[in-house]
Amino acid sequence: MNRLELLYGRAEIAARVQELADRLNRDYARTNLIVVGVLKGAAIFVADLVRGLDGPVLLDFVEASSYGSGRDSSRRVRITSHLRGSLAGAHVLMVDDILDTGFSARALSRYLGEKRPASLKTCFLIDKAARRQVDFRPDYVGFRLDEGFVVGYGMDHAERYRNLPDLYLLD
Ligand code: IMP
Ligand code: MG
Repeated sequence: MNRLELLYGRAEIAARVQELADRLNRDYARTNLIVVGVLKGAAIFVADLVRGLDGPVLLDFVEASSYGSGRDSSRRVRITSHLRGSLAGAHVLMVDDILDTGFSARALSRYLGEKRPASLKTCFLIDKAARRQVDFRPDYVGFRLDEGFVVGYGMDHAERYRNLPDLYLLD
């Protein structure tokens, strides 16, 4: 059995998500925004985040999977589920659960950038900056984490734990 150690409880998560939403409401005031959630890990985060946004928001999703070792600079990221709508000329915010090595975020932001948005920014619930292997700078971050593997609030280990309402470190 894996041991779970509480990292952030639901009240703390909710407060931080609302702070992010408040910032987005200021930064995107009177702007049509397309929020692109990255499945599956960001599903719960993006659901909470968009409900804190008060401007006109469209919601779309992509799914990506990566293979090859994280230490391998040739690590491949494949888009396994594509956008439904167009991003052309739109202000776009990509929302993912965790920014880790940066391979996924780099590939996903290139993919979204090819859709010719007017602007593209990125938002992550958790940033593990110390583990970055490619140069990638997030625009919005909920929590910073130096080390550890996180589950709950959408995040999984071998597809388990996504439904936990709180965030845990996995032993
Ligand atoms: P990156 O390409 O290494 O930045 O990988 C980012 C993706 O790996 C995230 O979107 C997560 O899906 C997954 N990931 C990285 N660290 C964790 C973790 O601690 N818990 C669960 N998933 C993680
Ligand atoms: Mg992910």
